[in-house]
Amino acid sequence: MKIIAFNGSPRKEWNTSTLLKKALEGAASQGAKTELIHLYDLKYQGCISCFACKEKNGKSYGKCVVRDDLKPIFKQIETADAIIFGSPIYLGSITGEMQSFLERLVFPYLTYTDLPQTLFPKKIPVGFIYTMGLTEELMVEFGYQQRFAGTDRFLSRIFGLSQSLLCFDTYQFKDYSKVVAPRFNPEEKLKRRQEVFPKDCQKAFDMGAEFARENKS
Ligand SMILES: Cc1cc2nc3c(=O)[nH]c(=O)nc-3n(C[C@H](O)[C@H](O)[C@H](O)COP(=O)(O)O)c2cc1C
Repeated sequence: MKIIAFNGSPRKEWNTSTLLKKALEGAASQGAKTELIHLYDLKYQGCISCFACKEKNGKSYGKCVVRDDLKPIFKQIETADAIIFGSPIYLGSITGEMQSFLERLVFPYLTYTDLPQTLFPKKIPVGFIYTMGLTEELMVEFGYQQRFAGTDRFLSRIFGLSQSLLCFDTYQFKDYSKVVAPRFNPEEKLKRRQEVFPKDCQKAFDMGAEFARENKS
């Protein structure tokens, strides 16, 4: 059993990657092999709209033909038993790298039929971990959930079950005294980091463990 996680943050040791590592620890606790892939280590672009993946009787139907660092990754994904994506929120959305990755991953599998169908060869659980600086209240006010729901809808259409984990009010800077950010209260941020973030880590662990258990049963 193999579970792969994709980190859509440029930071390899911060909020998003920590939660993804916890999710993979949870999966490993149930006997899964795991791998964490950092998208910012790869060279690729978003979909270039060539439509080779939609060509009638084409040998690349359902496949992305662009040759870059994502090509071997897409092969790996077809052998995975679950996938967990993670992204910080940048300007109200997932990062550009994660968006480009999803365009390339999802679009070839999505059929342009009246009832859109998936060409992905099997059903696997997928999870999405979103981390953001905003509090939950402000996230609701800014309507982020509609965007998350859109991503979840595409992912569940392609892969099967999709679930998401939202992590709010994250600790963003190594040292708050060295940045100009008067809207944040460093003590409150630290308190939340110490009290709430471990609970988010536990939820991520549980997600990974659940995915691995689903595969075992
Ligand atoms: C370029 C940039 C834009 C950001 N925009 C938002 C935003 O629109 N909403 C939000 O809630 N947080 C925003 N943040 C904060 C990050 O989403 C948050 O700190 C996140 O947890 C960082 O993830 P990381 O620690 O894994 O890198 C932004 C951060 C950066 C660097």
